[in-house]
Amino acid sequence: MPFCFLMYIYYHFSAHNKRLQYKVWNLVIQNLPWNGQGKVLDIGTGSGPLAIELAKKFPLSLVWGIDYWGKLWNYSKQKCEKNARIEGVANQVVFQKASASKLPFKNGEFDAIVSNFVYHEVRDIKDKKKLINESFRVLKKGGAFSLQDTLKNQKKFGTIEDLIRQIKEWGVQEVNFIETADEIPMPNFLKFELKTMGLLYGIK
Ligand SMILES: C[S@@+](CC[C@H](N)C(=O)[O-])C[C@H]1O[C@@H](n2cnc3c(N)ncnc32)[C@H](O)[C@@H]1O
Repeated sequence: MPFCFLMYIYYHFSAHNKRLQYKVWNLVIQNLPWNGQGKVLDIGTGSGPLAIELAKKFPLSLVWGIDYWGKLWNYSKQKCEKNARIEGVANQVVFQKASASKLPFKNGEFDAIVSNFVYHEVRDIKDKKKLINESFRVLKKGGAFSLQDTLKNQKKFGTIEDLIRQIKEWGVQEVNFIETADEIPMPNFLKFELKTMGLLYGIK
């Protein structure tokens, strides 16, 4: 791939230029069918952008952000807490070190769950369906979810039809799927970069 092309893609997706990245985060929040009353969990929060946006959008909510904060990413609990302070929501957000594969929460503890671009990264459990089931475990019946990742990567997640069927078998009442690239206006060659990205949202 020519260098200029790679730089152009980097320009759109990099942490320094968040134009597209913001749209990707926003898609998760826009599709969360929730009224903002109660507790929401951001699984694999990174530097905390989704958790912080949720706190701003839902001022009555309490927001938890968990992450493994491994060496691969330049993120940390301290960085998240600093970002929350800068954005004026520090008293509304709790950041905690934990793995998405074994969440330190009770069954049904959260009114809503979100996650962006995390499940494909998780290495401490092989079966992605078990991993996603762990997220649903901590969501209460009737709670809302919006989960975005490379869900169309069949090698990792199986077919999307199978995944939806499986989620419904866990007792989740409403499951919708949209393709990220269809929802965000962008040049076609950038759509190619997002071709495996999809978002599951609905009500447990
Ligand atoms: C691509 S980043 C996404 C971060 C954030 N969700 C966002 O949208 O900016 C992937 C994140 O997954 C986290 N991660 C990887 N394995 C994890 C695990 N087992 N449990 C929790 N988080 C994990 C990484 O530490 C990293 O912060």
